[in-house]
Amino acid sequence: MPKFPLLSLLSALLVAVLAACAGTNVASNAPATPGAPSLAEVYADNFYIGAAVNARQISGRDTAGLRLLASDFSSITPENVMKWEEIQPGPDTYTWELADGYVELGERLDMWIIGHTLVWHSQLPAYVRETTDPDQLRAYMEDHIRTVAGRYAGRIDGWDVLNEALNEDGSYRESVFYKVLGEQYIVDAFRLAAEAAPNTQLYYNDYNLNNPQKRQGVLRLVKLLQDNGVRIDGVGMQGHYNLNGPPIAEVEASIDAYAGTGVNVMITELDLTTLPNPWDLDGADVNQDFENSPEMNPYPDGLPDSVSTKIADRYADLFDLFLRKDEAVTRVTLWGINDAQTWLNNWPIRGRTNYPLLFDRESRPKEAYDRLLTLKDN
Ligand code: XIL
Repeated sequence: MPKFPLLSLLSALLVAVLAACAGTNVASNAPATPGAPSLAEVYADNFYIGAAVNARQISGRDTAGLRLLASDFSSITPENVMKWEEIQPGPDTYTWELADGYVELGERLDMWIIGHTLVWHSQLPAYVRETTDPDQLRAYMEDHIRTVAGRYAGRIDGWDVLNEALNEDGSYRESVFYKVLGEQYIVDAFRLAAEAAPNTQLYYNDYNLNNPQKRQGVLRLVKLLQDNGVRIDGVGMQGHYNLNGPPIAEVEASIDAYAGTGVNVMITELDLTTLPNPWDLDGADVNQDFENSPEMNPYPDGLPDSVSTKIADRYADLFDLFLRKDEAVTRVTLWGINDAQTWLNNWPIRGRTNYPLLFDRESRPKEAYDRLLTLKDN
């Protein structure tokens, strides 16, 4: 069933008019491939197609990225500007400019707007990270959630309330929140978000959620909330995948398991790394960092066609699954718009040339993009 009614003709007009008023160059929502329907249009009956946006896009400097956003996407997530260290760098300091700009951009383009993220152990300022007093930490968390979720209540459609609270074996991550407050912090975070933004969907978001052991952890976390009468609307599976893994069957089993608890499922941070993995690294712990070398950066000047086809095949296999599961899957968000922007150029090794997204460094559609446009015809 269609989940966003304004996407087609009407939104083309709206985007053009409003973008012109805002002084950006987002002049139309002509699709990336002239004459073809856009990606968001092709999947409009199945799920939102989202993209993470950065400060250059929010502030209007990346006009090519903004054009693609308007044409091919129906949802946005802030890549960094709403993280705790960005939005509340000190206990009494809030910096709203980019976050406000982000929400305005989403409204202008009639997007399904995601907030990312309220409670997370990374990109967390020292004053929170180093707190050992439970009352103080609880107070920080309450103030942060009430203020941030409250400010955008009725404008943000879904919040990643809690990010990456689990270890690979399904146990709770020893974050400052868990160490100081125990599992109660999870219940409190969702309850506070529900109070501050009663009409906003509330999500748990994490990487490697295909992993069967971690899956058990998610099921326990969802049950904890449900048993406490606290609302959770969805589980976000970050899709930081590669060309060979994870197995489609594992992703499928997790989608089924999460949907079985009654929540929606979202693929929230999809990108497919094309480069070697420093030590067969799984997942997306943003604190990891390794040495660069020619072996680790094999395609500095361009991608061989064979690899480009592999990426396209893998995207097709994944979208094939998401389509089969579209009763449960409500959104598929790419972690960026084009390959120039991707965080995978700098993680887990700095200064590499990676190719994980659907548009290339010049914002031209890649083979993977074309494949996804025609996938439903086959
Ligand atoms: C990443 C951003 O893309 C980078 O720009 C930043 O330096 C680190 O964080 N899981 C998440 C995202 O939930 O917020 C992370 O984003 C990637 C892993």
